[in-house]
Amino acid sequence: MYGGLASLARELEKEAWSGARYTVLLDENTFTHCLPALVSRVDALQEAEFIEVPVGEECKSLEVAAQVWQTLLEGGADRQAVLVCLGGGAVCDLGGFVAAGYKRGIRHVNVPTTLLAMADAAIGGKTAIDFGGVKNSIGHFYPAVLTVLEPSFLATLPQQELFNGMAEMVKTAAVADGELFRSLTAPDAQFSMQPMLLKRVARIKDSVVKADPYDHGIRKILNFGHTFGHAIEVYRGVPHGVAVALGMRVAMYLSVKKTGLVDEVYNAYSQWLASTLSAFGIPRATFTLKDIEQMLPLMHQDKKCAGGEVRCVLLQELGAAVIDVSVSDNEVRDAMLHL
Ligand code: GLY
Repeated sequence: MYGGLASLARELEKEAWSGARYTVLLDENTFTHCLPALVSRVDALQEAEFIEVPVGEECKSLEVAAQVWQTLLEGGADRQAVLVCLGGGAVCDLGGFVAAGYKRGIRHVNVPTTLLAMADAAIGGKTAIDFGGVKNSIGHFYPAVLTVLEPSFLATLPQQELFNGMAEMVKTAAVADGELFRSLTAPDAQFSMQPMLLKRVARIKDSVVKADPYDHGIRKILNFGHTFGHAIEVYRGVPHGVAVALGMRVAMYLSVKKTGLVDEVYNAYSQWLASTLSAFGIPRATFTLKDIEQMLPLMHQDKKCAGGEVRCVLLQELGAAVIDVSVSDNEVRDAMLHL
């Protein structure tokens, strides 16, 4: 379900939710900016308990998960308990993880409050905490029973956060819907504020996930740009969305060389990226051969790599992706130098 808070309010009046006891999982930001709207617009949540966790990735630890389980136990939460995850990707990841384990599984509802979480992280059932120094190393596939997209939450988001979400929206469109891609990257697009485009992206993600819930095949198309993006994110410490947007440019360049993508798409995307980064005040990134040598091991560590070669998602055309394409180190060097 991708309606907003009004639609959540109607849903929770239904028989299926009678006897439910709600606990809202949130952080300091969503406590201030989003909880007032949630409880005032959704009657069923007026009496909800709430549990606050640290902001951002810091909440995705075993210690925080244990604290949430402890609070649920002490509050007498039974299998009728429903965890409402009100936050960005980190709160939704943690909330899904906690819900999957508590009393062998309770229902959770994702109410994402960032564009990134609305477009990607809160849909598809991937839940995780970080463990042993490795991001998302422990987790489950445990889908939320409802995902609620409330665009008014985006009004308080910093620009950088909006860019992170835009990058994931453009990625999903690139691999599945060429027309949507063109709408999102049109020179006058203000897509962060266009709920219809966000809903289209969410529906695409949902249908890809339904076709491959456990990420063995077609779902891998959602990793477009991520093999290179993750390496850029770790090496340069840039935000996820910026790294993914740059990674998509590398992947498009390789798509022109290897899988028949036409030049025009690569050129148009490069122009959009340059003007959008500049509009958001984000500096352009370039990489020397020395940088690339240091990033190659990061790409080889990527879970998609096999047989010593980088394997990634490329495009044959907009909306048509190919998974598991082997790319040599020299091809990666050439593509990264073109950034
Ligand atoms: N974010 C990629 C996926 O959910 O599979």
